[in-house]
Amino acid sequence: MPVRSNQFTRLDLGAMSGPNTNYDPVEVAVLRPAAVEAAVNDAVAAISAAATLDDLKQVRLAHAGDKAPLSLANREIGALPPAAKADAGARVGRARAVVKSALDEREAQLLIERDSAILVEQAVDVTVPVQRRPVGAQHPLSLLMAHIEDIFLAMGWRIAEGPEIEHEWFNFDALNLPANHPARSMQDTFFIEPADAGVLLRTHTSPIQIREMLKGELPLYIACPGRVFRSDELDATHLPFFHQIEGLAVDRGLTMAHLKGALDHFAAAMFGDGLTTRLRPSFFPFTEPSAEVDLQCFVCRGASVDNPQSFCRTCKSEGWIEWGGAGMVHPNVLRACGIDPDSYSGFAFGMGIERALMFRNGVRDLRDVIEGDMRFSTNFLGGVL
Ligand code: FA5
Repeated sequence: MPVRSNQFTRLDLGAMSGPNTNYDPVEVAVLRPAAVEAAVNDAVAAISAAATLDDLKQVRLAHAGDKAPLSLANREIGALPPAAKADAGARVGRARAVVKSALDEREAQLLIERDSAILVEQAVDVTVPVQRRPVGAQHPLSLLMAHIEDIFLAMGWRIAEGPEIEHEWFNFDALNLPANHPARSMQDTFFIEPADAGVLLRTHTSPIQIREMLKGELPLYIACPGRVFRSDELDATHLPFFHQIEGLAVDRGLTMAHLKGALDHFAAAMFGDGLTTRLRPSFFPFTEPSAEVDLQCFVCRGASVDNPQSFCRTCKSEGWIEWGGAGMVHPNVLRACGIDPDSYSGFAFGMGIERALMFRNGVRDLRDVIEGDMRFSTNFLGGVL
């Protein structure tokens, strides 16, 4: 509390009978011009020294709050006689106005400074390259399968699918694989326990043929893509599960010539106009006659054969690439599906899709196809075509 030097004077005044018109505000210490000026100077100095809005808040409390010297001085005015009130009121009012405007001015400045600092701190350089989430890519196998399906759909064929967990009757028996056929042994086939229940992971897409023929809707032109499983060792050219595309046509009067025509069309659509296939005699229990399907090399088209100057890495200068198996549907298979082999005939073929991806798109190691490394898939961001 500021000490009032006129306490006795006021007490004396209180003891007087009439108003003391001589009462002089300069007698009240806090109202003296020098004190008022000093309070203003202190306030202005403190205001300009306030470096932050928080500092200024404290300064406002100290110099314009209830207990600030000028506020206390202002309170004293009320006790002054009317003649002195006007002068003291005007001086203190001006002083308080100076302090208020200094406070407001400084606050405005500090607000601008704070906002500019925020703008600088939080500035975003829109030209800096952002760390984007790596873009994913469809797996090349999915792309290739979709492409193959499109080829058959464009031929007017239908896409058919079947279960990956099969009964051995569909996977073997109905396909004319006798019980002692090596493909039925545990080495090639994953049986689901108990093994004698005859339930297995299908070893090829051919059981889809059976399921579709059993529906009895003829003629039948279907392409059957799907995943198959074999207990093969994983290496650069073998996978324990892989994909095949199966083709089946059952109609009146179909011959090997129709099979060859379908394969040539498939080859040209997959690998380039004018490419052909060749059939080499082979054996599959479910086709008779049976053939291995070779594809004319789509890189050298045979030009590297017997030409040491131009070795072809794709066909190893053999001019042909092994592509899959094919043949005329065995009469026993037609019979197993309730189709009269004297009225109908059929042809079928089956290819490995991973192997096709290998020689078609230069994949050297099949393990890359299954490891799920994004760097492999993103090589095919532009598609497999
Ligand atoms: C079959 O699976 C017959 N079902 C194909 C068929 C269908 C013949 C219709 C006649 C009529 P094969 O076992 O040869 O055939 O397999 C066909 C293709 O699957 C092979 O040419 C090969 O490209 C691919 N393949 C076979 N084993 C593997 C493996 N472990 N890893 C990757 N691809 C494989």
